Order: sequence, then structure tokens, then C-alpha cells
Amino acid sequence: MKKTAHIILLTSFVFLISCNSIKTNKASIIDQKVDSVLNLMTLEEKIGQMVLYTSDWDVTGPTLKSGYMDDIRKGHCGNIFNAHTAAYVRKLQKIAVEESRLGIPLLFGYDVIHGHKTIFPISLGESASWDMEAIEKGARVAAIEAAASGINWTFAPMCDISVEPRWGRVSEGAGEDPFLGSKIAAARVRGFQGKDNNLADPLTILACVKHFAAYGAPQAGRDYNTVDMSKRVFLETYLPPYKAALDAGAMSVMTSFNELDGVPATGSRYLLSDLLRGELGFKGLVVTDYTSINEMVNHGVVANEAEAGLLAVKAGVDMDMQGEVYFKYLKKQVDDGLVDEKLIDEALRRVLKVKFLLGLFDDPYRYCNEVREKQLVYAPEHLEAALDVAKKSMVLLKNQDQVLPLKKGEKIAVIGELAASTRDLLGSWKAAGDWDFMKSTLDELKAYNGEANVIYAEGCKTIGEDRSGFAAAMAAAGRAQKIVLVIGENWEWSGEAASRTSIDIPGVQTELLEKLKTLNKPIVVVLMNGRPLDLTRENELADAMLETWYAGTMGGKAITQVLFGEYNPSGKLTMTFPRNLGQVPIFYYEKNTGRPIYLPNDKYKSKYIDSPNDPLFPFGFGLSYTTFEYSDITLSSTELTDNEGLTAQVTVKNTGKYDGEEVVQLYVRDLVGSVTRPVKELKGFEKVMIKAGESKEIKFKLTSDMLAFYRLDMTYGTEPGDYKLFIGGNSKDVKEKGFKLK
Ligand code: BGC
Repeated sequence: MKKTAHIILLTSFVFLISCNSIKTNKASIIDQKVDSVLNLMTLEEKIGQMVLYTSDWDVTGPTLKSGYMDDIRKGHCGNIFNAHTAAYVRKLQKIAVEESRLGIPLLFGYDVIHGHKTIFPISLGESASWDMEAIEKGARVAAIEAAASGINWTFAPMCDISVEPRWGRVSEGAGEDPFLGSKIAAARVRGFQGKDNNLADPLTILACVKHFAAYGAPQAGRDYNTVDMSKRVFLETYLPPYKAALDAGAMSVMTSFNELDGVPATGSRYLLSDLLRGELGFKGLVVTDYTSINEMVNHGVVANEAEAGLLAVKAGVDMDMQGEVYFKYLKKQVDDGLVDEKLIDEALRRVLKVKFLLGLFDDPYRYCNEVREKQLVYAPEHLEAALDVAKKSMVLLKNQDQVLPLKKGEKIAVIGELAASTRDLLGSWKAAGDWDFMKSTLDELKAYNGEANVIYAEGCKTIGEDRSGFAAAMAAAGRAQKIVLVIGENWEWSGEAASRTSIDIPGVQTELLEKLKTLNKPIVVVLMNGRPLDLTRENELADAMLETWYAGTMGGKAITQVLFGEYNPSGKLTMTFPRNLGQVPIFYYEKNTGRPIYLPNDKYKSKYIDSPNDPLFPFGFGLSYTTFEYSDITLSSTELTDNEGLTAQVTVKNTGKYDGEEVVQLYVRDLVGSVTRPVKELKGFEKVMIKAGESKEIKFKLTSDMLAFYRLDMTYGTEPGDYKLFIGGNSKDVKEKGFKLK
């Protein structure tokens, strides 16, 4: 009899016994099944389940290990990442199930961040939609396609708050705000794991909350760099999105590369045991980031890899991604009495539990159905959903004299390397996304506006100093009524290991814009980038600017539809766009300081002598082809008591010619606290469609628990006193009203 069959029979037997006891719940049935497997395992096999290796199909970091097929066979490797397609996964799974001694099925992980095959906009772009349903749908589609291609575990959602545009990985997150970040984190978990977290559904995948913790605050914006912040800032600003993802039911967590308060996250008992498993009550599995156990030697908290492994396992790490440390040293450390085998068993239980929850012991090939894969990958409704989110993610930054929308049939010059690119539209972490499958922005513009009405010239590359294409670009622009200049960063300039010391548009692209400006024709700048950029100069030169991020498989079509007014832009920035790099870090929830500016010419104030304090585009900012007018705020009461809360109401009127969506935002400020409080904090938002000429009443309910914070003594709760409440279409232009918390 095959070993897997043996395990499955055994676990079914336990199941039958368990069913006889009415009181036994599902969780304890799984626990019993887990133990029934665990009891059959040698120490070496147990450690093998705590090992995760990359397939050489896709490499996302320095590779240490090849020949993993043999490791699977020997029970030395229980989990694989970067392998996909139903057929290939089946092949590897078969080795585990039929050729290893116990036949325990493998987990298959992959970075399905913003889509698997059908790629959605990069996560920062998706966040700018402020549309939780659309974001959840994006994750759902990603899960369906990934699950159909053999994957059962995604390394997402990335929940790292960041105020650092130099850091390339801001493109993978949801921006600077903990409140919005939390809503988005939860929406993504619901999308990946399904609304009711039923991992046994073969079209859901296990979510992984990363990078735990505070990876988004590397010093100087340099990837993998030291993180150091007060505990208050950590708990109040950086922790909430991770927590929201866990509360939504995410069953795995990835540690981060960075240190926090002098301790690398992968060896931090505080982060992994006290906080994550203790206070936050997390019951799932903890995996390291890529070789982050080994890297603790470089961090300088251990002398060698063996010690690093000890630190990690004792801190609460269950699975070693790619580092080989557990496999090389743990067995001997247990034999030598340095680690209690019980600790290994605990980690193993968490790994096996996830495999049971995913239904892998019932059918190890449940994610390997090639017919289903063919039906689901690039399904028309998935492409539709990607188009929808792509349009919603775009942010109109400027629209002088209503240059946009373009009119069909207008002769346009399309200029820029990025206009003709498909690869760049996918951004970083494109998973299995295929750029040969899709159309460029240029192709879509031609298809919509007619070949004859679109004149293309590359002008220049995104990077480099080559100006030889300028003349052709000027000639093309000379023949057109309007210029559409597509500029920004190429896809490799954001994402992992893509930190920058400048946030300018690279190369000679802005110089090309300056040249085009001399033609005195309306210029529409279409931006593709994965981080807030310094757009001060471009903002002076362009008549219109549309931030499109990297918009995904359907990006070209989405850009076309927005430019031509088939869709009225509704996106709002989720990270502040500074005027210059010197203002960084800049974010809307800053503190007032002891010397805020009241008069522009006051000298001894908290300000710059060479730049205003305020950003070019604030958090929450984004224009529409229509305009919205906000009424004053009406409060149900000027006092908020614990039990009742209060309702704040505004009327928003669409005063323009187009129907449009507006993201109405609610902020508060606690005027006097036992510790200093931010000048504004987002506490609510609603995205509403308002028809031209019509008005809508928007109501927000504010309850006292929404005003809680870490007080002077570090207890979490509220303090009575005076507050301000703000409502507006961005974090700067708001109506305000005062209230008292009793
Ligand atoms: C990244 C993770 C990713 C992992 C696996 C690491 O380098 O930091 O976000 O999930 O690689 O690809």
C-alpha cells in the first residue's frame, strides 16, 4: 500500500472516531489528524516539512539549492515555491506523494501579488482606487487563476505601511495610511482565502501576511536597511494592517528582512511569540523571508548559521525559506539537547495543519487540473475585472483647461518608450503574467482613435542620455493637435531591490517634455511608475497629468478609455507626492510640532528656507473630469459619548458636466492628548457615484473606539477632550467642525 494511502486511511479512521463525539469540533478533528501523521515521522522528516525551496522556474532571490527533486523524494523538503502550471506542480507533487516514505503532499507557494496570469495594477495603484470590492475581486481572480495553475499559497498581502518613496517596494503596498491599509489588507485576504476562509475550496489559496514587521520603514529608503522606530509608532501606525489581515483570517505570516529595535525580525521572540502568537492570537504558520535566517549572521546577532537557526526556531519560525539552515543543523541541535523536540513538533503541527486545511491530504492533486486551468486562466471575466480595477486606480493629477478627455478623431502624437511597451505595464512581481499576450498603450490608442490619428515616436528611452530621437518626436508632435507623452520609470525601477536616491523622472524624459513645450500644443503627460515621484517640473510644463502606475494586462485599454473619457477618473493618491526629495519623509498624519508655521515669513518655525512644507499632491488627492462641491458639515451632536457616537453629514454636489465617482474622506484631530497627536487621521471614506448636476448626502458614524490610541502609559484607549472633524475630497481641502469626546 502506498504511504499516502496509509496516511489518508489513518486520518480517515481518526475522523470516524472523532465524528462519534458530538462535542468534537472541526479544529480538533484536524489537530487529531495532524498528530496521527506526526506520530509516524522521524525527526529528519519533521524538519523536512519545515523546509521551503525555490523551483528554478522562477527565481526571486539568490538561489542556494538545486536538485530539490531529490530532496522531495528523501523527505528533506516539504514545500516548494516559484513552481507553477498544473502539469509541473503535478509532476513535483507526484514525487512527494509516491516516492517519499510518508507521501506527505507539498505546499506550493508563489508571489501572486497583483494577479497570477491576468495581471491587475500594482498594489499601490490598486490602493488608489479606494474601492474595497474591486480590490477584493482582484485578489479573488488572482487566487482562482493561481489555484488553477497548481498554487495553493500566495506570499501576499504585503501589509507594509511606508512613507518612503525612495524605497522601491512601496509599489507593492497600500501606501502610507494605517486605516486605509487595514481595510485593503483585509479585502485582499478575503479575496485570496475566500469570504468564509474556506481553504478546502480548490479555488482559494492560503494568504501570507508580510513582511512582519515594519519592513516599510528602512532608513534612508534603502531596501533591507535597518528599521528603528518608537514602540508607539510601531503599534499605532505600522502594526494595524498586519493585524487586520490576521483578523480577516490569514493563516500564514512571513517574517521581514529588517531588524527592529536591534533585533532581526526573523529572530525576534517579541515579534513572533509575544506579539504575533501571544497578543494577536495567531494560530497559523510563520515562514521566513528568503534566506533571512542566514542573514542574521550578517546582522551580527549570531556568529554562524547554526546559531541563527536556533534563534529563529526559538523565536517561533516554523519554516525556513531557501536558507537550508534548519535542514543542516536542527537535527543535531535536537540530538545535542540544544532544542527541545517539542518545539519542532509545534512548528510541524502548524505546517501540517495548513496542509490539512487546504485539503491536500484528501487529494494532493486538487490544484492540478489542467482542464480547469485552461478554462480559468485569462477567462474573459478576469480580464474584465482587471480592466475595471485598472481604470479605477488611475489618478488625474492635473487637467488645465479641460485638455482631457481627448476627443475621438483628434490627431494625437504619442511619444515615449513606455507607450509602446507591454512588459512595463505588468510592473514588478508579474507572477506568471505574459506580456506577449497583451497590447501596449499605443496599440490600444490606435485601435480606439484610428491608426491615422495616432502618430508615434519614441523620443527617448526611459533611462540614459540618448537624445537622438528628440527630432523625430518634435516632428511627430508638430503634425498633431495634442501630445500624449508617456513617461516614468521602467518596471525594474520599482519593487524589490529598487531603491533610488532621486525620485525624479529618470533620464532625459523631462528634457524631452521641455522641448515639446516649445511647440505650444496641449501636452498630456501619462505617468507610469511605482512610487511617488517629484513631479514639480512636469507639473509646470504639462497641461494634464494622469498617474497610471503599472496598470496590468489590460493597462493599455484602461489608459485609452480614461484618456478619451469612456471612464471618468476617480482614483486618489494613497501616498503623498512631495515637491522635492528633501521633504521626504512626508505624510499627512504629521505632528503639529512646537513651532508650526502661522505666517509665511516667520523665521524660527518648523519649515524650510528653500521649499514650502506642503506637498505637491497631498494624500487622498485626485481630480475628476467633473467637479464636486462640499456643503458644510452637520453633526448629530457636538458631544460624542461612549455609547452613542455621532453622525457627521455632508452634501456633495456634482457641479460639472460628467457623471463621476468621488471618494469622500473623513479625518479627525485630537487637539490635546497625554501624548502629541497627528494633525489629521483618516477615520472613514466612501466612494460614491454622483450624476452630473445631482447631489448626495454622505453620512459617517464616528464612535469613541475609533478615537483610541496608545496613551502616555502605553495603554490603548481614548481620552476625553476637544476634537476636530474634517470631511473633504483629499486630506488638505476639507470642511471642519469641532466636537467633544465625553
Ligand atoms: C521577498 C518576498 C518574497 C520572497 C519570495 C523575497 O525576496 O522579500 O516578498 O515573497 O522573496 O519570492
